[in-house]
Amino acid sequence: MNDVYILAIETSCDETSMAIVKNGNQVESLTILTQMDTHANFGGVVPEIASRMHTENITMVLEETLRKTSLTMDNISAIAVTYAPGLLGSLLVGVECAKTLALVYNKPLIAVNHTMGHIYANNIDCKIEYPTLALIVSGGHTDLLILKSESEMESLGSTIDDSVGEVYDKVARVLGMPYPGGPNIEKASLQGCDTYVLPRPMLDDSYNFSYSGLKSYIINLVHNEKQRGNEIRISDLAKSFQVVAVDELVRKVELAIKNTGIKNFILAGGVSANRYLRSEMEKMCQKYNVSFHVPNILYCTDNAAMIGCAAYPLYKAKKFADFSLNAKSSENIKSYIEKN
Ligand code: KG4
Ligand code: ZN
Repeated sequence: MNDVYILAIETSCDETSMAIVKNGNQVESLTILTQMDTHANFGGVVPEIASRMHTENITMVLEETLRKTSLTMDNISAIAVTYAPGLLGSLLVGVECAKTLALVYNKPLIAVNHTMGHIYANNIDCKIEYPTLALIVSGGHTDLLILKSESEMESLGSTIDDSVGEVYDKVARVLGMPYPGGPNIEKASLQGCDTYVLPRPMLDDSYNFSYSGLKSYIINLVHNEKQRGNEIRISDLAKSFQVVAVDELVRKVELAIKNTGIKNFILAGGVSANRYLRSEMEKMCQKYNVSFHVPNILYCTDNAAMIGCAAYPLYKAKKFADFSLNAKSSENIKSYIEKN
């Protein structure tokens, strides 16, 4: 087969991103325009502002992505786009842009699920070995899966309430840190000690996760201490939260490794940029002689390169979308697996 160049588009939340990916794992060009600073003024992503900013910026992001390479639209084999899940108005900007490019340049269109994109970020600079266990931890997801092959997956469990990224962001907010909270909690915790006693979520043997109890406990603790005029040791609380949150992720992955005997594990999603999580997972995997892989930090948070990687197996299988493709705000990995 000739080299395959996929032009990929990602606009599911507050990053306008495009990439050109060669043969499913080589990033030829990548542009990520983040709206983070704008949304930080409001303490979180404002959907209406996000979609307007995608509309304003997407053409410039395309120009920039092409400018960074010697490739032209003639070299592009297909146009891939995130169609779900995410903010509807934001997704629609990417989907319409992809359809227009596919129509004008007469290229096949590939619809990519955002969570699959996070998983396939692990193919950049490396190759996913099957079968593998996969944990996706992001602002919208906490999912544990087994990938049996490129086309066969099984969901083991997921969060029954909040995602771990969402809780990082909420805890950061109550501690007075700007959006997005995850990196700020990580930074503060480097100066802190694990001195707060916090409830452990879901002390059971299922593969599901629950973070809302931990979140509510911390919000109440901060409010109560403030009312009493007591000082909150921000770095200590950030550290204590991170220890409990990460420990729960490690414990469930360890349980799955013990029960299945699987020898490969990949971590993915925005929260996988967290160095403490990365090192705790790696330590646990070493204990069981399980190979551990996580994307380079650049490819952990939202980016279009991962969408180009996830589109490649669909390109090979000729699974193309038609122009009726629409954006979908919700599509969890379980329903994606059932559909495919
Ligand atoms: O994958 P992502 O960019 O967007 C979604 O698909 O949701 O993930 C964003 C989430 C946010 O909750 C953000 O706070 C979290 O990932 N995050 C982190 C770190 N970097 C990003 N959480 C903990 N530590 C980090 N270093
Ligand atoms: Zn994401």
